[in-house]
Amino acid sequence: MNVLFIGMGYVGTTMGLVLANKGHTVTGLDINKEKIDTLNKGEVYFYEPGLQEMLATELNKRIFFTTNAKEAVEENDLIFITVGTPSLDDGSADLIYVKEAAKLIRKYRNSEKVVIVKSTVPIGTTEKVHEWINQNGDKKPLVKTVMNPEFLREGSALDDALNPDRIVIGSNDVHAASQMNKLYQNWSCPFLHTTPKAAEMIKYASNSFLATKISFINEIAKLCDTIDVNIQDVSKGMGLDDRIGPQFLQAGLGYGGSCFPKDVRELLVTADQNQMPLEILKKVDEVNKNQANYFIGKIKKRIPSLKKKKVVVYGLSFKPNTDDIRESVSYSILEQLIEEKAEIVVHDPIVKLSSQWLNKGVVQCDDAYEAAKCAEVILICTDWNHYKNLDWLKVRNVVSNPVIFDGRNTLNGEDIKKYQFHYEGIGFC
Ligand code: UDX
Repeated sequence: MNVLFIGMGYVGTTMGLVLANKGHTVTGLDINKEKIDTLNKGEVYFYEPGLQEMLATELNKRIFFTTNAKEAVEENDLIFITVGTPSLDDGSADLIYVKEAAKLIRKYRNSEKVVIVKSTVPIGTTEKVHEWINQNGDKKPLVKTVMNPEFLREGSALDDALNPDRIVIGSNDVHAASQMNKLYQNWSCPFLHTTPKAAEMIKYASNSFLATKISFINEIAKLCDTIDVNIQDVSKGMGLDDRIGPQFLQAGLGYGGSCFPKDVRELLVTADQNQMPLEILKKVDEVNKNQANYFIGKIKKRIPSLKKKKVVVYGLSFKPNTDDIRESVSYSILEQLIEEKAEIVVHDPIVKLSSQWLNKGVVQCDDAYEAAKCAEVILICTDWNHYKNLDWLKVRNVVSNPVIFDGRNTLNGEDIKKYQFHYEGIGFC
């Protein structure tokens, strides 16, 4: 099938490549010429394992990138909207880019098309997109609309796209729904057909539920800290119950990234607008925002003043295997360390600190061992394998004070303690 993606961000690029790889002919459209030029050179402009290789195979064979909206809309019958929906100051989603995409389709549509909203949008938006595109009385063919949420995780997006747990198709139109079945015919996972509004809600409720699991385990972890119980045993024991499941029970510094914080806030706004406040979810957000404070509090119990102390921060991205720093808790920790007047050295396997942070006196080191030299405390803020695989004896030999606070419970405490480190995670010490 001929498929257009409007918006070559993370989701559009990944899903476009995956559909091309499955045999469809895909066009990627973006108003940002720089992004399109980069993709046309065969380079993925963000870090995601496996995408670069897939682009090398598919470029100019089954995937094409352009800034020409007229041609792109005219030549494709299936059009995905995969633009960003960032948070506004009040927590609601900004739909400006969705509206822009709808405008392009309204202007250039020349046949009956199926428009698929894949961006995460507030409940009711897909129906609005339908009206925005079809309303102008220009007697052009009507488009059908579908809501098809994405559940890709950064760092494992390719695998998630190729092997999803489910495909949700929200449409009130039989023809549009059957086109979607055809598009995804090579996928063997369960398909759920529902309304556009329910599809939108499934996305928000799924992410909010996972965020709830994380904040829940983080609260239990804090209690474990006070009563000397190891949270990792607790998570394991809970996760063995099929009804609970082992995933998203990893206690730590909380969730970040481009989805969970934004989606939780947007659902809270929708709930308030409908006079049906979501009390549990409000707490989920609050607990998450407080994790950095809690972590710093734990450190200060051991080292009351961080002033002029060399603090090494391992990990800047919001999770491993990505260069995404959106809502990364590492940066809240950097802010607090600056307030504490600590001497901060950071390391990340791929993220580079911006000049804004360098100007504040934060130093970045490209080598984790070099960074650790003379450290008085090491903080692990992202659970990159890189840190699990360090030679910790080598690190022990260069630090001034052998103290590790592991904000992601990523190291094996027993092994680390063998090297005479003082080692604390979140939910055990
Ligand atoms: C998430 C959803 O998983 C995905 O389905 C959706 O489409 C986009 O949002 P992503 O943001 O890439 O994906 O990351 P995810 O792996 O879900 O982790 C989110 C955050 O939660 C990270 O900061 C991670 O460190 C944290 N996390 C995750 C925990 O603190 N504990 C856990 O047990 C799991």
